[in-house]
Amino acid sequence: MPTKVVVGAQWGDEGKGKIIDILASQSDVVVRSQGGNNAGHTIKQKDKTYALKLIPSGILFPKVCCYIGAGVVLNPEAILLEIEKLKEENIDFRNLKIDPRVQIIMPWHIALDAAQEEKKGKNNIGTTKKGIGPCYCDKIKRIGIRLHELINPKIFRERAKIVGEFNNEILVKIYDKAPLKIDEIIEKYLSYGEQLKQYVADISSLVYDAYCANKKILFEGAQGAMLDVNFGTYPFVTSSSPITGGVCTGVGIGPTYIDDIIGVCKAYTTRVGMGPFPSEILDEKAVLIREKGFEFGTNTKRERRIGWFDAVVLNHSKIVNGFKKIALNKLDILSGIEKLKICTAYQTKDKKIIKNFPPCLETLDEITPIYEEMPGFSEDITNCKTIEELPTNCKKYILKIEELCGCKVEMIGVGPKRHQNIYRNI
Ligand code: GDP
Ligand code: IMO
Ligand code: MG
Repeated sequence: MPTKVVVGAQWGDEGKGKIIDILASQSDVVVRSQGGNNAGHTIKQKDKTYALKLIPSGILFPKVCCYIGAGVVLNPEAILLEIEKLKEENIDFRNLKIDPRVQIIMPWHIALDAAQEEKKGKNNIGTTKKGIGPCYCDKIKRIGIRLHELINPKIFRERAKIVGEFNNEILVKIYDKAPLKIDEIIEKYLSYGEQLKQYVADISSLVYDAYCANKKILFEGAQGAMLDVNFGTYPFVTSSSPITGGVCTGVGIGPTYIDDIIGVCKAYTTRVGMGPFPSEILDEKAVLIREKGFEFGTNTKRERRIGWFDAVVLNHSKIVNGFKKIALNKLDILSGIEKLKICTAYQTKDKKIIKNFPPCLETLDEITPIYEEMPGFSEDITNCKTIEELPTNCKKYILKIEELCGCKVEMIGVGPKRHQNIYRNI
């Protein structure tokens, strides 16, 4: 398959970075299409751990071209820092390219993100405070600053002055915060523009050319379907579209250029930040899974909330993404739990059984998850190389997920490293 989309099927942190890193070894191009440095993708090699935020997870292979598409929001300071740190590890950046249309995250976006969260009080979203929402907001308002403007000093000065002062007014008058020093910001950001100039290229055209040359292209999702601004648990979502459709609008390619889609999920569920989480575990099992699975944010180090595998979520994700294949990560973490639960449906307040994910918060607040209990497994599976080597109850768990989700589990993660992955028909 020449082009493949890898998307998060739950609330993010499903192990997309690991899957991309594995698939990148057989790819020519890896492309990010949305989100920003709110993402944190971990890649573990023998003795090294990389936590990537904006740089596509194909970067560890020097021959792979890594592209950042127009739908991304780019913090110039953050990406330059990430590049600098990775260069210390001898990572090659000659093949990194960024679309001139990406929106620039400016300091006022970060200040507004924090001020908005503070004002919301206990109803806060629990954002990563990286300025993602306010930056996408300026984009939709059609006042955002794009990379092609950042690298043009005359235009950048004019635009940053106007937009900066406008956002300063909001900071001061609405949120009662101190204004930012626009002139200082302009000078600092011009130097970032100068450093980023070398990476700028039209990603839509580059991807099309690569497709025509029959290159293998991987589209790397960030976040996950349940954080999608339209189809996630709104308003407890991110501000972009982390589903397959977001790849088309974020890279600038039509859907006919997508050949294959793989949904990445964990064998259980996690979410960071606030908002509905029907299958959340609220007893000591959550602590156990969190500690064993090291479920703390790659980026913000926050504790991840833990829940059972939710087939209602996965079916919703399958529909909005269009995948028929799953990469099921972190199965090893469930070893030692005597009884495993899978959420198969929800019961509404008026006792109706539903299998579709409710579109509104009010219904979500009132549903009760319905579980099917399955016997667990106690064996260490971290060295298993084939599905046959897995314990019987573990295999039954995988088959149950396939049956409930109508998807094929094609990759099974039994550990964080590249080689700790079982393949079925891939
Ligand atoms: P991403 O945002 O989707 O790329 O996921 P993160 O990197 O934020 O979080 C996934 C975490 O799980 C990382 O620490 C990975 O190293 C780890 N991981 C991925 N797959 C597996 C697996 O199969 N088993 C275990 N034990 N850890 C895994
Ligand atoms: P990766 O790519 C998990 C969550 C935040 C918050 C909500 C909105 O590593 O899977 P934002 O800063 O985007 O406005 O925050 O979205 N969130 C993520 N959760 N993984 C991510 O990315 C996330 N990116 C954003 O915690 O609840
Ligand atoms: Mg992550």
